[in-house]
Amino acid sequence: CTTTFKLNTGATIPAVGLGTWNSTDEKEAKGAVVAAIKAGYRHIDTAYIYRNEKQIGEGIKEAINSGLVKREELFVTTKLWCFDQTDPLPALEGSIERLGLDYIDLYLMHWPIPIHKREDANGNLIWQPPLDDPNRAEYFRKDWDFFKTWELMSKLPESGLTKAVGVSNFTAGRLEALCSKGKLIPACNQVQLHPLLPEIELLEVANKYGVILEAYSPLGSQNTPVLKNEFISEIAKKNDIPAANVIFSWIVSRGIVVLPKSVKEARIVSNLKTIDLPKEDMEALTEYASRNGGPARVATSKWLPEGFWEEY
Ligand code: A2P
Repeated sequence: CTTTFKLNTGATIPAVGLGTWNSTDEKEAKGAVVAAIKAGYRHIDTAYIYRNEKQIGEGIKEAINSGLVKREELFVTTKLWCFDQTDPLPALEGSIERLGLDYIDLYLMHWPIPIHKREDANGNLIWQPPLDDPNRAEYFRKDWDFFKTWELMSKLPESGLTKAVGVSNFTAGRLEALCSKGKLIPACNQVQLHPLLPEIELLEVANKYGVILEAYSPLGSQNTPVLKNEFISEIAKKNDIPAANVIFSWIVSRGIVVLPKSVKEARIVSNLKTIDLPKEDMEALTEYASRNGGPARVATSKWLPEGFWEEY
C-alpha cells in the first residue's frame, strides 16, 4: 500500500501519522511518540490546543537522541488556535518553542473561525467560547475572517519555521472558496473522516486543487463507533485483519493521510499497517460509505457557532 504522498510544495508526507488529540497525560503523550517512532512512524500530528506540544517534543527529542531517527526524517504538524488568527507568526514561534524544534513541516489553521483572546477571572486563557456564557456570540470575531488569516499564514514558510501551511476543518464550500481566490493553495486540509463520514464532495474539491486531505478521528474518536460497524467487520473478517486496519487502508487507498490516535503501544504498532484491499472490498466500502455516511460527525465540537457545518 502507498506509504507516502506528495504535497503541492514538493515535500513528501507519510500516509499514516500518529494522532495525539486527547493524549494529554504527560507521560502517555511522550511515551506514545517514542513508541510510534520505534514502530516506524515518521509523522506526528499535534496542535497548540491539545496542550501536549511540550511532551510531544520531548518524545521526538528522546527518539532523536537515542538514534532511532533524524529530525529530517520526521514530519511534524501543529496547528494555529482560533484566538491567534490575527497574528499567526508569534503563535507559530510559541509552538516551535514548546516542541523544542527548529522548524515544523506543516502548520494548519485549526478551524476557519477567528475568536477573541480572552482570560477568565484567574488569568487562564479561554480556549473556546463557553457554552454557559450568555454573551458567547461575542467571542466570535466579526472584524476578521479565515481569508485574512490565510493571507498571513501564506507568508509563514518565508520564516523558515514551517515548511508548509494548510487548513483544517474546512468544508467543501469553504475549501472551494479559499482555493478559488487564486492565492496560495493549502498543502493539506485535515478533517474528521472515516467510512461513516466519507467526505466525498470534499475529496473532489481537494483533488481539483491538489490539496491533500488528512483524516483525524478515523475510528470516530473516543468510543470508536466506526469499529462497531458490521459491514466493516465483515470486510475485516474476510481479509483477516482488524477492522481498524480496514478503515485505515480504505482511507489511504483514497489518497488521504490517516492519523489514528493511540497511547497504547500494541495499538500504535498495529495501526501503522495498511494493506491494498481487494478492489471489490474497496468499491463495496466506498459504495456503503456513500449510502450511509454523513450524519456521524461524532467529534463535532459543541463550541462552534450555530450552523457552522451547514453555512458553506
Ligand atoms: P487508546 O489511545 O487508549 O488506544 P480516533 O483515532 O478515531 O480518534 O480514535 C481514537 C480512540 O480509539 C482512542 O480512544 C484510542 O484509545 C482508540 N484506539 C486507537 N487505535 C485503536 C485500535 N486499533 N483498536 C481499538 N481502539 C483503538
